[in-house]
Amino acid sequence: MAGAGKVMGLCWWALKIAVVLMVGLGLEGSQCAEFNDFFYPSWAEDHVMYEGQTLKLRLDNTSGAGFASKSTYLFGKAYVQIKLVPGDSAGTVTAFYMSSQGDQHDEFDFEFLGNKSGEPYIVQTNVYSKGVGNREQRLYLWFDPTQDFHSYSFLWNRHQVVFMVDDVPVRVFKNKENETGVAYPQRQAMGVFSSIWNADDWATQGGLVKTEWSHAPFIATYRNFSIDACEYRGPPSISDCSTSSSLWWDRPAYASLDGKQRVKLRWVQNKYMIYDYCRDSTRFSTPQPECAQRV
Ligand SMILES: *[C@@H]1O[C@H](CO)[C@@H](O)[C@H](O)[C@H]1NC(C)=O
Ligand SMILES: *[C@@H]1O[C@H](CO)[C@@H](O)[C@H](O)[C@H]1NC(C)=O
Ligand SMILES: *[C@@H]1O[C@H](CO)[C@@H](O)[C@H](O)[C@H]1NC(C)=O
Ligand SMILES: *[C@@H]1O[C@H](CO)[C@@H](O)[C@H](O)[C@H]1NC(C)=O
Repeated sequence: MAGAGKVMGLCWWALKIAVVLMVGLGLEGSQCAEFNDFFYPSWAEDHVMYEGQTLKLRLDNTSGAGFASKSTYLFGKAYVQIKLVPGDSAGTVTAFYMSSQGDQHDEFDFEFLGNKSGEPYIVQTNVYSKGVGNREQRLYLWFDPTQDFHSYSFLWNRHQVVFMVDDVPVRVFKNKENETGVAYPQRQAMGVFSSIWNADDWATQGGLVKTEWSHAPFIATYRNFSIDACEYRGPPSISDCSTSSSLWWDRPAYASLDGKQRVKLRWVQNKYMIYDYCRDSTRFSTPQPECAQRV
C-alpha cells in the first residue's frame, strides 16, 4: 500500500485500543476511529449535534446543516446508518452522497425527500459522470425509514457503482465507457458528504407541500459510519487506486451483482420504483445510451 492511497475503514466510536490492536496485528483496512478523525461539520456547526453514539443534523428556520469527509477517495465503500426525520418532514431533503469537485465532476446521490406525517418518503438517486447528471431514479422504501436506523451505502470499483439500502442493491451504474463512450467515474477523487436542507420548492409532491416551520426542528440521526476506500494522495493515486489487485473491491466477486443480488434489485425495480429517467420518453425521446446496459 506504500505510496498508494492508504486504505482505511473506520468504525465510529470504536475504542482507540482497537486501533492499536489492529495495527499491531497488521489488520489493514479495518482501522477504527471517531467521527472527528475523518469527518468535520462542513455547514452550520451549531446545527450538528453529538448525542451519545449518534450524530444529529438539524434543520430549522435559520439553517440546515452538513458534514464532509476530510479526505477524498478513489474506489471503495462508503456506508452510514441513518434514521430520517420523523413525523412531518414535508419540504425537507436529507442527502448522503459522494462527489468530486469542479464542473466536470462525478457524483453519486441518495436524496431522501420528506413528506407529511404518515406519508411515504421518496428516495431519489442520481449519478453524475464528467459533469453530466439527469439520471434520476425514484423509489419508495419497503420500511419506514424514520422508525429505525437503516444503512445506505455506495460500493464503487472500476466495474460498477452499486447503491445499497441495507443489503439490497437498489441501483447499479456499470462501467460501459469502452463500449458506449458514456463516461464512468474513475479518474476523480470523491469526498463523502451528508446534509439536510429546506427544498420545499420541489421535494414534496412536486413542491406543492411546503415546510411547516412550526414543526421544526427537523432532525436526521446518524451512526456507524464506515469508509473503506482508497485514499487519494494526488495524481499518482489515479493509477495506484485502480491497479492494485490487493483491494477487496477489485476482486471478481464485486465486479457485478451475484444472482441473489440481481433478484433483489429486480424486486425493488418492480415493486418500489416510481420513476426512472430511462423510461421517461417526455424528457428523452430516445433513452440515454447507458440505459441499455444489463445488470
Ligand atoms: C424561527 O422559529 C423560531 C422558533 O419557532 C421563532 O421564534 C422565530 O420567530 C422564527 N424566525 C423566523 C425568521 O421565522
Ligand atoms: C477499458 O479499456 C482500457 C484500455 O484498453 C482497459 O485498461 C480497461 O480495463 C477497460 N475497462 C473496462 C471496465 O473494461
Ligand atoms: C408523499 O405522499 C404522497 C401521498 O401519499 C405521495 O404521492 C408522494 O410520492 C410522497 N412523497 C413525496 C416526497 O412527495
Ligand atoms: C452500530 O453502532 C451501535 C452503537 O452505536 C452498535 O451497537 C452496533 O453494533 C453497530 N452496528 C453495526 C452494524 O455496526
